[in-house]
Amino acid sequence: MEYLDNINKLEFNSLDNELRDYAKMHDVPIIQDMGLHFLRQVIMLKDVKTILEIGTAIGYSAIQMAKLGCYVDTIEINENSYNIAIENIKKANLSDKISVYLGNALEIDLNKLKKYDLIFIDAAKAQYMNFFNRFKELLNDKGVIVTDNLLFHGLVLNDNIESRNLRQLVNKIRKYNTWLISQTDFDTSIYDIGDGMALSIKK
Ligand SMILES: C[S@@+](CC[C@H](N)C(=O)[O-])C[C@H]1O[C@@H](n2cnc3c(N)ncnc32)[C@H](O)[C@@H]1O
Repeated sequence: MEYLDNINKLEFNSLDNELRDYAKMHDVPIIQDMGLHFLRQVIMLKDVKTILEIGTAIGYSAIQMAKLGCYVDTIEINENSYNIAIENIKKANLSDKISVYLGNALEIDLNKLKKYDLIFIDAAKAQYMNFFNRFKELLNDKGVIVTDNLLFHGLVLNDNIESRNLRQLVNKIRKYNTWLISQTDFDTSIYDIGDGMALSIKK
């Protein structure tokens, strides 16, 4: 909502603005501002110290989370995005707070990773259930999993999608949403924030 977008303020430095402009120019899907507000406040409320992010892209969200003092491990499958993220993290002077792993999150050796207070799932939407199942083991007690893009630009509410591929993807997201809510080892709510975000708290 434009009113809330204007009244809720995030402070961005020149590098943040550079990354935001780059993302816009190159169609890189980075976290929306309201999603970032939400994520930041979850991090603060839960006193989150360690984060695993699935889907680095150009390092924008990892940088925003590390700026709150968290240690972030983040996984990116695309080599070009990985290289750009490494450069951006260096420019932000956050190389000691963020480790970027190049590879498919579904194949990464879990022994390379740690235990986390928060896991942020923001990669291939068709794989969300696999990401959740694979990484939930790495969550500390009372840890949280945040999943982004669960309304997928409102398409999840649309029953008249013409493209078959898009329809299949939207159906996968719907299936994930229903499945996620039904997981009894987590308390999950899905919010109409940013592109649709779920907060799943480990019981
Ligand atoms: C939505 S973007 C991430 C945006 C980033 N979290 C931000 O807000 O700044 C999704 C990223 O996930 C990556 N990705 C997709 N599938 C992946 C996988 N299986 N393992 C690791 N990364 C993956 C894509 O290459 C893409 O860069």
